[in-house]
Amino acid sequence: MAVLRILTYPDPRLRKKSVPVERIDKQIEKLLDDMAETMYDAPGIGLAAPQVGVNLRVIVVDISPREENSPGLIELVNPEIVLAEGEQIGEEGCLSIPGFVSEVRRKARVVVRGLDRKGKPVEIEGTGLLARAFQHEIDHLDGILFIDRLSRLKRELFKKKLEKVFGKEESYAAF
Ligand code: NI
Repeated sequence: MAVLRILTYPDPRLRKKSVPVERIDKQIEKLLDDMAETMYDAPGIGLAAPQVGVNLRVIVVDISPREENSPGLIELVNPEIVLAEGEQIGEEGCLSIPGFVSEVRRKARVVVRGLDRKGKPVEIEGTGLLARAFQHEIDHLDGILFIDRLSRLKRELFKKKLEKVFGKEESYAAF
């Protein structure tokens, strides 16, 4: 297993749509192992393959550092949200946008379908933080970052923070 380098905003690879995995083989299993190790090392509660420069629809999630009754490590290949309902607002951050946390509106409950590391179809329901993590990671697979889901006011705050880091506006991508 290896800790991979996590790409950070505004790396354009974070904006690419990831493609479905066609065949689960040793390489995908290794990717899942490395992604889990990278997530725990960061530390974070979720990671999507494009964050480590791999343009495939693969995510790992483990909210146990933040919640006691959690299912532990969840590995999903080609995850898809098949049901989403209700609403929640809560704080969110992203390993690819270090140092910025903001409130984001998400669905309260989601049902996710995908494949496990053996290629077996799985369906997992998540509420609260787990539902939030699923939505955040699956967004990554479509090139969407949580800053895209902020209110206008909160997005302005993010821009100001970026200006502090980078100096002038030309040095970072527009959203
Ligand atoms: Ni993220």
